[in-house]
Amino acid sequence: MIVYIRHRSPDMCFVFTIDLRYSLILRCIFFVLIAVARGRYENVNVKQDWWENAVFYQIYVRSFMDSDSDGIGDINGITSRLQYLKDLGVDAMILAPIFKSPMHDFGFDVTDYYTVHHEYGTTEDFEELVKKSREFGMKIILDFVPNHTSNESDWFVKSSHKDEYYSDWYIWENGHLDSSGLRRPPNNWISSFRKSAWTYVPSRDQFYLHQFGDSQPDLNYRNPVLVEEMKTLMKYWLEKGVAGIRLSSVNYLVETDKDLYGGRYPDEPMTGKPGVYADDYNYLEHIYTKDQGENYDLISQFREALDAITIRDNVTRVLMTEACTGIKKSVKFYGEGVHLGAHIPLNFALLKDVGKESDARDIKYATDRWLTYKPLRKPANWMTGAQDKSRLASRFRSELVDSFNMLVLLLPGIAVTYMGEELGMVNGFVPWSETRDPLACNTDDPVNFIEVTRDPFRTPFQWNNGKNAGFSDAEKTWLPVAEGYEHINVASEQAAVRSHYQVFRSLTTLRARPAFRLGRYESLALNSDVFAFKRWYNDDAYVIVMNVGKGYQVVNLTAFDLIFGQLEVEVSSVLSSRSYGDNVQANYLDLAADEAVVLRMQV
Ligand code: GLC
Repeated sequence: MIVYIRHRSPDMCFVFTIDLRYSLILRCIFFVLIAVARGRYENVNVKQDWWENAVFYQIYVRSFMDSDSDGIGDINGITSRLQYLKDLGVDAMILAPIFKSPMHDFGFDVTDYYTVHHEYGTTEDFEELVKKSREFGMKIILDFVPNHTSNESDWFVKSSHKDEYYSDWYIWENGHLDSSGLRRPPNNWISSFRKSAWTYVPSRDQFYLHQFGDSQPDLNYRNPVLVEEMKTLMKYWLEKGVAGIRLSSVNYLVETDKDLYGGRYPDEPMTGKPGVYADDYNYLEHIYTKDQGENYDLISQFREALDAITIRDNVTRVLMTEACTGIKKSVKFYGEGVHLGAHIPLNFALLKDVGKESDARDIKYATDRWLTYKPLRKPANWMTGAQDKSRLASRFRSELVDSFNMLVLLLPGIAVTYMGEELGMVNGFVPWSETRDPLACNTDDPVNFIEVTRDPFRTPFQWNNGKNAGFSDAEKTWLPVAEGYEHINVASEQAAVRSHYQVFRSLTTLRARPAFRLGRYESLALNSDVFAFKRWYNDDAYVIVMNVGKGYQVVNLTAFDLIFGQLEVEVSSVLSSRSYGDNVQANYLDLAADEAVVLRMQV
């Protein structure tokens, strides 16, 4: 074979003679090189399932938006605010329980899983919400409460009268009489809402177990009929167009097998923790009631039920689990081998392992830890807020809100935020006289209830600086509006040039880029106050730098591989003096106290 290569100058012409054998090899190399070069860029279109990189927004329905002026948020209220959620960059909403309930634990005590709670609306309202959300390209996840029902549910009422079918749907045990003839519970188990986990019912002359409030009897998951009923319930809502199910308190579902202990549930050992009262949950080590191995099998069964619908419709229905427990037990909810577990076992690292006293090294440690324990091929998820946890601005300080929103939205994987964190809402003040949370009421203590109350994290969402922060027209809202709503609200923050809301929106826009969707991750504590991480995909690289300390800092970002020269500011925290498009030097970045920036490497 002869190859002519003609130089631009017509009088020069090189002639090469190449053996046919080599020609074939050369052609192969040529095609491989083309494929590699294309691949570098074409991967940008790697297909990800809808949930694998989604922004999930948790809505505490009772406090989001009131459409009928009764001081309580509702479903039509959410429907009226879908544009807001869309603009914010939300992919899916997680609704706190919407089912019929006497509201002792505000929906976490269900009387009927097939009915929408009347204060929140009707089934038709819910269907309309699903339909409209779909039009906006957003999905709905429903929070299920699998561990217990309300003691007012039909199931429980029938069970407490030994109805043949429902008799074994709850955990019933005989008590005993003590030496003074007083009726005593079956054992020493304590409820996570304080005091004995057993309550006596005269109609059965037995005690029922409740690991939460006494109005929340635990279901008996050793009964296969109940397990099937739960699957049927989930399917019912999935058929209504729900995109997934969040299962709360999944590490409480199954208790130890009493047959292993001669048919009697054994006492739990004491922790011996100083300063803990005998009525407190932490008084005991919950070795028989929490984190039992059977929970994982149950989740895997629920996953199968969801997957059947996913396969039929070719649209993934997502299973999300909530278990606040040790890391190894948490990540086990992903499932093992062929036994698939949850798609998203919620990650409490940023809620539990990082606190007011934490510095940059603690943030690195907490994030690395989750990424290390999580199964390699499963997406991570990051959660910074929830209805049971202090708000970001109060848990840390309001100056760090943007930093934590950068973490939740730009770390690799799924983002799970809680309504109001995009505004930097602070915990409300709810006095004892207005306290509604059963966990707080159970303390019977008008002073120390403040240590445990969750009401401050559930105060009404702040839409504007008008009456009730625009949440409701009612004279009184179910919980008081938090202080500071005059400035911390949607309308003001949308109008402002710099606000937490504006930062949040820029971040959700940014996370659509390949570096954040698909890119690699590396993190460094540049010193004890400055945490930084790099996300990159091919040549597109970003460094997110946050000074979580209270002093001025100078750092050198060339500690990261291939970060040098100038970087450009993409997003900066509210208090930063930097703006979009400003340049900074990689080897000398000065940061004010609490400043956080997202920088793009210039190529
Ligand atoms: C979950 C909920 C919490 C509720 C508890 C008992 O942990 O997040 O709000 O009180 O379950 O149902």
